[in-house]
Amino acid sequence: KGAVGLPEEVPVSESDSALPGFYSREFVSNPYAAYDYLRRTGPVRRIHRAGVPVWLVTSYDEVRLVLTDQRFVKEPARWPVPIEEADPGLGGLRHFVGKHLLYADPPHHTRLRRLVSKAFTPRRVTEFEPMIRTVVDELLKQFDERDEIDLVGWFAVPIGTTVICEMLGIPAAERKDFRRWSLPLVSDDESARSSAELAAGRRVALAQLSDYLGALIRQKRARPTPDLLSALIEARDGDGRLSETELVAMALLLLIAGHETTVNLIGNAMLALLTHPDQAELLRGRPDLIPGAIEELVRYEGSVMICSLRVTGEPVELGGVRIPEGELVMAVVAAADRDPARFADPQRLDVTRPSNPHLGFGAGVHYCVGAPLARLQSRIAIGELLRRYPRMELAVPRHELSWHPSISLRGLHTLPVAPHGLG
Ligand code: HEM
Repeated sequence: KGAVGLPEEVPVSESDSALPGFYSREFVSNPYAAYDYLRRTGPVRRIHRAGVPVWLVTSYDEVRLVLTDQRFVKEPARWPVPIEEADPGLGGLRHFVGKHLLYADPPHHTRLRRLVSKAFTPRRVTEFEPMIRTVVDELLKQFDERDEIDLVGWFAVPIGTTVICEMLGIPAAERKDFRRWSLPLVSDDESARSSAELAAGRRVALAQLSDYLGALIRQKRARPTPDLLSALIEARDGDGRLSETELVAMALLLLIAGHETTVNLIGNAMLALLTHPDQAELLRGRPDLIPGAIEELVRYEGSVMICSLRVTGEPVELGGVRIPEGELVMAVVAAADRDPARFADPQRLDVTRPSNPHLGFGAGVHYCVGAPLARLQSRIAIGELLRRYPRMELAVPRHELSWHPSISLRGLHTLPVAPHGLG
C-alpha cells in the first residue's frame, strides 16, 4: 500500500485496468485520502471503469467547468457506448434514462426542468416546514425511551421517505415499499455481485416501482389531488408537454434523487458532528449557525460524491489535458470540495467557514432542483437532534460503521447512537 493507504488499488494511469479499488472497504470508509492523491498526481486522468474509458476529474476549477460548460453534454444519444456499459449503475434503467431532466440537454432540459422547478423554490418549500417538524417530533418520541437507536433507519429514512412522498402525493399506506425499491436502484457496486445479478435486481425493483407509479398516475388523472404528481399530470394533459414515460421517469427521478440523498446527508452530517464534538457544541450555543453548518457538512461529508456522467460534445482542453470528442467524463465533487486551491484547510470541518462555494449540490443547469427542500429538512432534523440530545454519542467505534457500496452516492447503512450518552 502507498503512503495514503489506497492508491495501489486506485487506477492511477490508463494502464490500470479497473475501478474495483473504489469499492474496497478501505476506500469506501475514507475516499478522501485517495481523492487527494488523485488530485495531486493528475486531476484530469483517463481511467477504465468496467472496461470502458472514462475521464476522472478531481480538482475544483476543472470539476466546476465540467458541470457548467455546455461542451459537456448529457443526452445519451451522444454517448460513445450504450448507457449500461458506460455506467453499470444505470443497468436496467435504460428505458427511463434520457426521458428525465438529469440526462437531457437544453432546450429539452429547460422545458422539463421548468415543469418541476416551481414546486421547489425556497418559498414554496417553506410551506412544508410544519409537516417536516411534525414528522421529526413524532420520530423523536422513540428516542426518549431508548439507550441506543439507529439514526439512519429510525430517523433519516422515515424523514426522507415521508417528505418526498407527501410532496408527490403518495398515500401513507403505500410508502413502506419505497426504500426496498429505491436501494437497488441507487447501488452501483459492480464488484460485490455479478453485474447480471445486480441488473436483474434493479429491473425487478424498477418494474415494481414504475408499475406502481403508472397506476397512481392513472388514479390521479381521474381524481386530481393537491400535490406535485397531479400538477405534473396536468402540465402534461393541458398541452401535451409530458409523455407517459416522461411522467413516470420524472416521478422516479424525484423519488430516488430526493430520497436517498437526503437520508444519507442526515446520517453523514450527524456522524461528522458526533465525531467533532467541539463543532456540535458550537452549534448548540449558536443555532443561527446551522444553515451555514449544513453547507459545510455538504462540503465535508456530502451525499453525492460523483455527479452523473457527461460526454464531451467536442474536443475540450481541461486542466492542460486535451479530451477528444465523445468521451465520458466523471466530475468528482467530493474531491473538488476538498481542493486546497479553493478551500483553506479543506480537511477540517469548520461550521463557521465564511465562504463555501461547494459543489455538493452540483452546478450549472443541472444544479440540484431539490436543494431548498434538502436544506430545510436537514436544518430541522439536525437542529432538533442537537437541541434535544446534548449528550448524544456514537454507540459504536467509527471504524465499525459500514457504508453503502456506491462510488457516486455516500451513505451509511446504520448509525447507532446513544441519545442520552453512553453514561
Ligand atoms: C440534481 C445533490 C436532494 C432532486 C442533483 C445534483 C446533485 C444533487 C449533485 C446534480 C447532478 C448532476 O449534475 O449530475 C443532492 C443532494 C441532496 C439532494 C446532496 C440532499 C442532501 C434532492 C431532493 C430532490 C432532488 C430532496 C427532490 C425532491 C434532484 C433533481 C436533480 C438533482 C430532480 C436533477 C436536476 C437537473 O438535471 O436539472 N442533486 N440532491 N435532490 N437533484 Fe438533488
